[in-house]
Amino acid sequence: MAPDPILIERLDADADLGPIVEIERASFSMPWTADMFRWELRNDDVSATYVLKTAGGAIAAFCCVWVVLDELHINNVAVRPEFRRRGFARMLLEHVMDEATRRGATRATLEVRRSNVGALRLYERLGFSVAGVRPNYYTNPVEDALILWRCAPPPDGTAVSRAG
Ligand SMILES: CC(C)(COP(=O)(O)OP(=O)(O)OC[C@H]1O[C@@H](n2cnc3c(N)ncnc32)[C@H](O)[C@@H]1OP(=O)(O)O)[C@@H](O)C(=O)NCCC(=O)NCCS
Repeated sequence: MAPDPILIERLDADADLGPIVEIERASFSMPWTADMFRWELRNDDVSATYVLKTAGGAIAAFCCVWVVLDELHINNVAVRPEFRRRGFARMLLEHVMDEATRRGATRATLEVRRSNVGALRLYERLGFSVAGVRPNYYTNPVEDALILWRCAPPPDGTAVSRAG
C-alpha cells in the first residue's frame, strides 16, 4: 500500500506524551512509562524523540535516540499497530539517521530481541547487521538481545541502547 502523506518532527519538552505512551503499551511487554519519555525530552542535549504523523495529524510512530559522540543509539522505536507495514518505520529511521549524520554521527547501533523477526528484517534492510549477543538480556519473557550496528562497530563491539 502506498504510504499516506506524512510529517516527521522532533518533540519538545512540553509535548503531549499520551499517544506515544499508548503506542508503547500496544507494542512492548515491558513498556516505558510516561516518566521515562519525559526524562528523554528533558535531556535533549543527548536525547531526541521523533514522531511520524499521518496527513490527519495522528501520531503513527515514534523513535527515541541518543547521539553520543559519533554514534547514534536507537533506544526505542514503535509504530501504532494499525499503521504497520506501510513503510513508516523505515521512513522514520531514515530521517533520524540523516539528522544524526548532520549532528556528527558516523554509525548507528541498537538492540533487538532475537525473536523480533519483523524488526530484524527492517534493520537489515536499513543496512544494520548483527555484531554481538547479550544472552538473556531481556525479561518478560527472558530472551537474548542481538546487538546490531550500521557501519563499523567500535573496537569492543558493545552498545548501551534499550530498544527491544
Ligand atoms: C518493527 C516495527 C517498528 C516495524 O514498523 P513498520 O512501520 O511496520 O515497518 P515498515 O513498514 O517500515 O517495514 C519496512 C520493511 O521491514 C520489514 N518488516 C517490517 N515489519 C515486518 C514484519 N512484521 N515481518 C517481516 N518483515 C517486516 C519488511 O522488509 C518491510 O518491508 P515490506 O513491507 O516492503 O516487506 C513495528 O512492527 C513495531 O512497532 N513493532 C513493535 C515494536 C518493536 O518491535 N519495535 C522494535 C524494537 S527493536
